[in-house]
Amino acid sequence: MKFFVDTADVDEIREINETGLLDGVTTNPSLILKSGRDITEVTKEICGIVDGPVSAEVTATDFDGMMREAKVLAKIADNICIKLPLTMDGLKACKKLTSEGHQTNVTLCFSANQALLAAKAGATYISPFIGRIDDAGADGMELIEEIRSIYDNYDFETQILAASIRTVMHVKEAALIGADVATVPPGVIKALVKHPLTDKGLDAFLADWAKTGQKIG
Ligand code: E4P
Repeated sequence: MKFFVDTADVDEIREINETGLLDGVTTNPSLILKSGRDITEVTKEICGIVDGPVSAEVTATDFDGMMREAKVLAKIADNICIKLPLTMDGLKACKKLTSEGHQTNVTLCFSANQALLAAKAGATYISPFIGRIDDAGADGMELIEEIRSIYDNYDFETQILAASIRTVMHVKEAALIGADVATVPPGVIKALVKHPLTDKGLDAFLADWAKTGQKIG
């Protein structure tokens, strides 16, 4: 499973990218607001940090406006992936942009039928929002399972990008189901490495090693 980080905070992106485990970045208008930066400037900086796709979201809601904004965003860098909302106009723009060779990420997906349409529109990625479905009292992970089955039934190449991830359990469950990518907030990525028995075991090894009086090298 590929790992994207879900943030527009360049310091966090740099830190996680240095691990060599990062495959891409997703941003959205709320994350741009949180960064306090200009969208073009911050997106360009992010694209220079990571080699993988960087999703940048259009804010127009009509086809022509989306296409106009997509062209502006695509000029920022070669690794831009155009993020489009799951609406009729968004799907139409997705089809057109994909046919022109752009990477596309169809976002705000809350149903299997929406995901089916995004695949038919040729989306590179579909972003089902797990956490927001859980927040509404349903099971976000069920949606990932449904989309996995539908895409496998028809050999769709659209990649399932599990989004709105809030917990380490979300990451594990999405991986078990076979999501192609998870876009994960920086704090959750850091939490994935943690296990109390790892810390306890390391402390014990280091204590015993100190007693040997030896040094490596
Ligand atoms: C996905 O691309 C979105 O940016 C993100 O995952 C939304 O997450 P949220 O529901 O925590 O805002």
